[in-house]
Amino acid sequence: MADAPNLDVDFARRQFPDSAWAWAFFENAGGSFVPRSVIERLGAYMAETQVQPGAPFPASASAARRMAEGQRRIAEMINAGPDEVIVGPSTTANIYVLANALRPWFAAGDEIIVTNLDHEANNGAWRRLAETGLIVREWKVDAETAELDPADLERLLGERTRLVCVSHCSNIVGTFNDVAAIAGLAHAAGALVCVDGVAYAPHRAIDVKALDVDFYALSPYKLYGPHLGVLYGKRQHLLRARGQNHYFIGEDDIPLKLNPGGPNHELTAALAGTADYFEAMHGHHFEDRANSFHECVRAVYGLFTAHEEELAAPFVKFLSAKPGVRLIGRPTASPAERAPTFSFVVEGRHSADIPALVEPAEVAIRSGHFYAHRLINDLGIDPDDGVVRVSMVHYNTAREVERLIQALDRAF
Ligand SMILES: Cc1ncc(COP(=O)(O)O)c(C=O)c1O
Repeated sequence: MADAPNLDVDFARRQFPDSAWAWAFFENAGGSFVPRSVIERLGAYMAETQVQPGAPFPASASAARRMAEGQRRIAEMINAGPDEVIVGPSTTANIYVLANALRPWFAAGDEIIVTNLDHEANNGAWRRLAETGLIVREWKVDAETAELDPADLERLLGERTRLVCVSHCSNIVGTFNDVAAIAGLAHAAGALVCVDGVAYAPHRAIDVKALDVDFYALSPYKLYGPHLGVLYGKRQHLLRARGQNHYFIGEDDIPLKLNPGGPNHELTAALAGTADYFEAMHGHHFEDRANSFHECVRAVYGLFTAHEEELAAPFVKFLSAKPGVRLIGRPTASPAERAPTFSFVVEGRHSADIPALVEPAEVAIRSGHFYAHRLINDLGIDPDDGVVRVSMVHYNTAREVERLIQALDRAF
C-alpha cells in the first residue's frame, strides 16, 4: 500500500452541514457534529419506517433491517460482533445497567477498583455497589501530573478484586491509559476490566479484541453519530450477566436483556450513517480497498491522528508559553501520548469567565468539571468553577486553531 495520504479536511467538512462551520468549534469532547449521512439515515428511518420494527409487513421489516445494520456496523468499527454490543441511551445508563447486571456475581467483601480520573459514568454506579457489601478501592492519579500509575494498580489488586473500572482517555486530561496493559494486570489477578472509551473513540481506532477488555463503553454522539451509548461486552459475560429487562426476556436475548425499555429505533438505524462517513473518508483517501470495514476504519483514524497532531502542536506551544496557565496533563501534542483535549486554569481568573471572552471571535469552548468532579476536586481545583476545556477533532482546521489562540491571547 502507498504511503498514508494527508487528511483532506475540506473533504471531511463537506460531509457535514455548512452550518457546522460558522464558529470555530472546540467543544467536541462535549459532543461532536454529525455528518449528513447520519442525518439522512435518521430522516429516512423516520419518514419511511417509523413503525414498530420486526413485524412482517414491509415498513416494519425494513425498520428492523435498518436497526440491525446500525448495530452491526458500529460493532464492526470496534471489531466486535453485533451480538456483543448493547446500543442504549447513553454510556452512563449502559454502565448503570451493567453494574446492576453484574451485582449478583459479587459477594460481600469482594473488591472493585475505580479511579478518581474517570468521568462519573464509569464511577458512580460501581461505587454505589458498596451499599450492598462490596469494597470499593480508588486508584488515584498523581495530583501533579493527573496520571494513573499502573504500579499503584498492582498494589491495589488482590485476590478479592473482581473488577477494574478505568478510562482509555480522560475527558479532562487527554492522556491515554495503556488499556491493554491494565487489562493484562487485572486478568492476571483474576479480575475483569470495564473501560470507558468515550473520550478515546473520536480520536483513535478501537479494537476490543486486541485490547482484550471485558467491557468497553463509547458514546456515538461524540463520535460523529447520534445521541446514544454503545457498550461492548465479551459474549460469555453478557450471557452470564443478570438480565435487567422484563421477566419474559430470556437470559440469552442479547442485547435486549441489558436494554430495559428497548433500543431507540431511529437513532440505532442512524448509527450506520457514522459508518458511511468512515467509508466515504476511506474511499476518498485510499485507492486500495481495505480487507474489512474495521480495517478501513483504522486507516481513517490514522488520517485523524496525523492531522490532530498538527492542530495540537501550536496550541500546546501557546499554552506552555503563556504566563499563569496551568495545563492539566502532558504539555505535548504527541499523538501516541494524548488526544487533543486540553484543560487548563488561569491564575487569578475564574474558568467560568473565559469562554465568554472568546465568543466575540466566534470561538466555542466551555468550562466546568465535565462530570469528572472527583478529578477536578482532587487536583485542588474548585469543581464549581472547574477548568477551561478546548477539545479538537479531525475536522478542525489550522486556521481555526489560530483564531482560538488569538482569542485566548486577548482574553488573559
Ligand atoms: C469520558 C466520558 N465518559 C462518559 C461520558 C458520559 O457519556 P454519556 O453522556 O453517553 O453518558 C462522557 C460524557 O461527557 C465522557 O466524556
